[in-house]
Amino acid sequence: MFAKIIAKRTENENKTIVTLKLDNGFSHGLNVKPGQFMMIWIPGINEKPFSVSKISDDYCEVTIAKVGNFTENLINKEINDGVGIRGPFGSGFKISEEKEILIVAGGVGLAPLAQIPEIYKAQKFTFVVGSKTKNELFFIERLKANENTKIFISTDDGSDGFKGFVTDLTEEVIKDTNNKFDLIIACGRKEMLKKVYEISKKYDINLQISAEAFMKCGMGICGSCAKGKFLVCKDGPVFTGDDLDYVLNFM
Ligand SMILES: Cc1cc2nc3c(=O)[nH]c(=O)nc-3n(C[C@H](O)[C@H](O)[C@H](O)COP(=O)(O)OP(=O)(O)OC[C@H]3O[C@@H](n4cnc5c(N)ncnc54)[C@H](O)[C@@H]3O)c2cc1C
Ligand code: FES
Repeated sequence: MFAKIIAKRTENENKTIVTLKLDNGFSHGLNVKPGQFMMIWIPGINEKPFSVSKISDDYCEVTIAKVGNFTENLINKEINDGVGIRGPFGSGFKISEEKEILIVAGGVGLAPLAQIPEIYKAQKFTFVVGSKTKNELFFIERLKANENTKIFISTDDGSDGFKGFVTDLTEEVIKDTNNKFDLIIACGRKEMLKKVYEISKKYDINLQISAEAFMKCGMGICGSCAKGKFLVCKDGPVFTGDDLDYVLNFM
């Protein structure tokens, strides 16, 4: 079905990350979980997967980083324009008994993660957020608004926070807090996810990742998102436990 864009925000100084607020007739009452995704269709251009960055009964938000033709077209849409929507698809992150949760976000990988502390009020969250430079950081004020959330920032060039990779800062945070975490949740580039997996093994902390894949149908039919025996759109995109080693080997 078509959803209408009812608001639009630029999220970062470089103006490369934009949030579109969509009217929410399509998923009303569906209880979309953080980590699930929608297929967004621009007629005549293409159809691509995007996570839900915020959901309520009245609206749904997606946050898009400009990387190529489709994302450029999408962030150039204006208020009252329509886009085709299918979904929600896939599995979301699973949070239940865990008390202390470490969230590692690389670049636009923060999009599906920022709403987690807004939904799960009984948990404490430590976010480690990384980007190439200060101008690409986004959602920092949104994260700071949560009483249950601490934030650590890394930039590759040192223009804000820790200078270096988000995974190096992640390991420092684990050591500095005497490894108090029950769970790590991570979303970002595959190189980052592989390193977070190593860290989770080293410190014996459960891990959930959102995996990357090229998607066409989004619903387990076309096979374009296959990672060995798994279809990321249907069996994921969130993977955990014994499946992590297998999936990451195919990325
Ligand atoms: C489950 C899921 C959720 C996603 N959620 C978001 C989101 O919330 N916000 C967001 O901005 N993006 C998200 N993406 C990625 C988004 O779908 C791609 O950035 C988009 O399809 C790129 O299209 P394009 O035509 O602009 O760029 P293209 O020209 O297709 O690609 C530009 C560059 O990005 C790489 N790329 C494209 N698609 C992917 C992909 N799926 N995985 C890894 N690399 C890719 C290409 O190799 C190329 O280097 C998500 C992807 C998945 C699988
Ligand atoms: S995108 Fe078609 S099977 Fe996953």
